[in-house]
Amino acid sequence: MIIKSNPVSNSLKGKVIIPGDKSISHRSVIIPAISKGTSRISNILESEDVKRTINALIKLGVKIEKKDKKLFIYGNGLRSLIKSNKNLYLGNSGTSARLLIAVLSCQYFDTKITGDSSLSKRPMDRIINPLKMMGGNFLSNNNFLPIVIKGNRKLKPIRYNLNIPSAQIKSGIILASLHIKGKTQIIEKLLTRNHTEIMLKTFGANIKINKYPNKKIITLCGQKELKASNINIPGDFSSAAFFIVAALITKGSSITLKNINLNPTRTGLLKALKLMKGKIKIKNKKIINGEVVGDILVKYSKLEGCNLNKKIAPTMIDEFPILAIAAANASNPSKFYNLKELKVKESNRLLAISKNLKKCGVKNIIKNDDLIIFPQNKKSNKVIKINSKKDHRIAMSFAIMGMVSKKGIIINNAEFINTSFPKFIKTINNIGGKISLWDLL
Ligand code: S3P
Repeated sequence: MIIKSNPVSNSLKGKVIIPGDKSISHRSVIIPAISKGTSRISNILESEDVKRTINALIKLGVKIEKKDKKLFIYGNGLRSLIKSNKNLYLGNSGTSARLLIAVLSCQYFDTKITGDSSLSKRPMDRIINPLKMMGGNFLSNNNFLPIVIKGNRKLKPIRYNLNIPSAQIKSGIILASLHIKGKTQIIEKLLTRNHTEIMLKTFGANIKINKYPNKKIITLCGQKELKASNINIPGDFSSAAFFIVAALITKGSSITLKNINLNPTRTGLLKALKLMKGKIKIKNKKIINGEVVGDILVKYSKLEGCNLNKKIAPTMIDEFPILAIAAANASNPSKFYNLKELKVKESNRLLAISKNLKKCGVKNIIKNDDLIIFPQNKKSNKVIKINSKKDHRIAMSFAIMGMVSKKGIIINNAEFINTSFPKFIKTINNIGGKISLWDLL
């Protein structure tokens, strides 16, 4: 699918409903599936990635039903999964792959998992290596998908330094440790999203978090049965991010995003945009299922460039593509550090941001793992074509850039937006966006 994002003449106005958080949605299927009893999940994200996790667990014998827009998951406890008679295809979803590889390494049966061309190029050694330290066994071509996970019910606990700041690795080790007798510890120096830890407390896991000035230690004693629980999933901050930046850079805009997850391990972008003088307010803050939730009010602002502290990167790792669009529309240059992890996302996002910004006439430099963006002072008089690299967040970010362009931006492979936000085009057009299907014209 090819789309064109046309310049908008009016400001963006109104209330926006953002679909459920993707990370919490994956965990809201996997954790109930290995708990005892029925969990009711409200506002789950109905996107391609989350469907991959749901379908995989159905193939592994878990009963999952949708009734009145809610998902009911009938868990039978730890190690109740059964062998799938087919391979598990996980599409584009890195979270499904890393989390399920860990759960499957603790079973009595073997499972083969596969993925699309992007997922098949993404590194799995980051999750396989700690699992191997626990005694896990895998067959693969250099740790890339397809991978056969050899089930082993006798894994051993480990103490693991999380050197790559990745919540997927951390969550995988935690999910495996639930199945293992003894004390598993993970030492985290750069804080990553902690939805797994929060949810496991609700489900009664024996998990303890100790925070120190420069690190956090997670201790988990496994083989305790988890109890089913109901979960209400808040709106996804990473999806809200596109609307926040759209409103900040479109003159006269004023929008409210309702019921968004504001977990501080996810909202680094708010800090960055405030440094850039973005007018953003938070209202109606509350705690739901251990997660901070609130409304975000955004007004058009004259953005300034910023220099971001290295440590902030993991708390906004999925937001750099859209932050780059904000930076491209600011009054002076911005510098973002520590973007190594962006190279192993659904595409090499560092390169995709840089190349596509250049197509829009925005000068930028990649220096090792850092990115410097020099805002555009003259907008192109031509229609710009960018390459989404089959990456949902690159596609959506440049769709927002198109709204403030002169002649519009054409984006290829836009169907990949369905990975995380199937209603993106409809939602942005409802508040004043002008995105249309290009193939049909
Ligand atoms: C996710 C963690 C992040 C993020 C991804 C979702 C998760 O990946 O980029 O979109 O749900 O745990 P890493 O943990 O690899 O940084």
